[in-house]
Amino acid sequence: MPTTTTDAPQQLVVDFDVYDESLSIPQDRFQERAAELRSLAPVVFSSAYGGHWVVTGFDEVRQVLGDPETFSSYPNNLVNAGQGKFIPLELDGAEHTAYRNVLQPLFNPSRMKQIEDEIRVNVNDLIDGFIERGECEFVSEFAHELPARVFLALMGWPLEDAPMFSEATQAALVGKPGGTEEESAAVRAEAAGRMFEYFGRVIAERRGRPIDGDADVTTVVVNTPVGLDAGERLLTDEELCRLLFLVLIAGMHTTKGSLTWGIKYLAANPDIRRRVIEDPSLLPDAVEEILRVEAAVCPGRRASRDVELGGVQIREGDQLLLIYCAANRDPGHFPDPDQFRIDRDPNDHLSFSAGPHRCIGRHLARRELRIAFEEVHRRIPDYELNPDQPALFHPSQTRGALMMPIRFTPGARVG
Ligand code: HEM
Repeated sequence: MPTTTTDAPQQLVVDFDVYDESLSIPQDRFQERAAELRSLAPVVFSSAYGGHWVVTGFDEVRQVLGDPETFSSYPNNLVNAGQGKFIPLELDGAEHTAYRNVLQPLFNPSRMKQIEDEIRVNVNDLIDGFIERGECEFVSEFAHELPARVFLALMGWPLEDAPMFSEATQAALVGKPGGTEEESAAVRAEAAGRMFEYFGRVIAERRGRPIDGDADVTTVVVNTPVGLDAGERLLTDEELCRLLFLVLIAGMHTTKGSLTWGIKYLAANPDIRRRVIEDPSLLPDAVEEILRVEAAVCPGRRASRDVELGGVQIREGDQLLLIYCAANRDPGHFPDPDQFRIDRDPNDHLSFSAGPHRCIGRHLARRELRIAFEEVHRRIPDYELNPDQPALFHPSQTRGALMMPIRFTPGARVG
């Protein structure tokens, strides 16, 4: 029998719902709340969603990630996102590896290096869109647009479809803000249905196309035989929809959040900003620190056997929620964990996860972040947040940005 609120150690039972809007709106207190939980114990128990353990300690999160046989990736979501298992995120063992092997080479470092110039062109095009005004709403005009453009180009999907993806993936992540669990589930299911219809059309168009040097990601995954069911076969429409939906959700909102947090932290740390402007070779270290201080993802795991974790007894069938942004600020692992320090070495944060599900898009995400900050600092180096309109973030298992107006000295377009 899985642990319930009644039989969990009472001193460890907390009131915490990762989807509770008030954690971040109107003011982002998510990290503060996560730190309170961590100071209570590295593993606590929340009664939300039928009861689950909340893991905030660095060593405890690493133990979970390092033992995928004990901690299954299904379900990764505490709420039903309305689409069946996400592929490959919610699969384990050999089945997971088979699907992952199709995707991983498509996002490897050398392929991502090839699109460096394209990313830079998009970054500058977006900056051109607002540079003459001396102000912009950074999330909608940049942080959202950049990963959407790069992602759609990689997938080979038309850019004009971006608004539909934005809306549907946001609904899948946060459900109905302020609504009941049932209302949120209905919103998620509707969004998933709309996306699956779209994917169905894209898949039909790609079936049978040759995989040549110019083939987009969609063409490759649709036409590559995968080692499943004791043989090799093409993925079904249903499998492809669940895989495409996951890649879409995984790639867009996470990068958008990190771009926004990056500008927020650099605006608040003028010395560091000056150093990266003077020496852009420091940017990769700054990017790692941005990823550490505000990890976007809080994935789930489920115990497949009884096991001890952080001094508590986890039972077979227990659900866990891993709070990466809390583990990344565990004072037992990172000195000065709340300080934004670009000289942190080592900086072995968990923002891209670890173990078999380590983020496939990490090379792309790091490249997008670095190029974006290079160009923003080259063209609008004196940006500041607008004190009259504070930045707005949202909680959920993929935390992210909603709005962040900034202002700066106007400049000239280049395009
Ligand atoms: C800053 C940006 C990003 C962050 C913080 C991030 C974070 C993560 C994390 C934490 C996981 C693993 C979750 C778990 O262990 O359960 C993951 C998995 C994944 N990510 Fe990312 N991600 C980012 C960007 C991207 C991008 C740009 C793409 C692709 C376009 C992508 C594709 C994937 C995929 C396909 C998986 C599933 C891997 C598997 O299950 O084997 N991610 N990501």
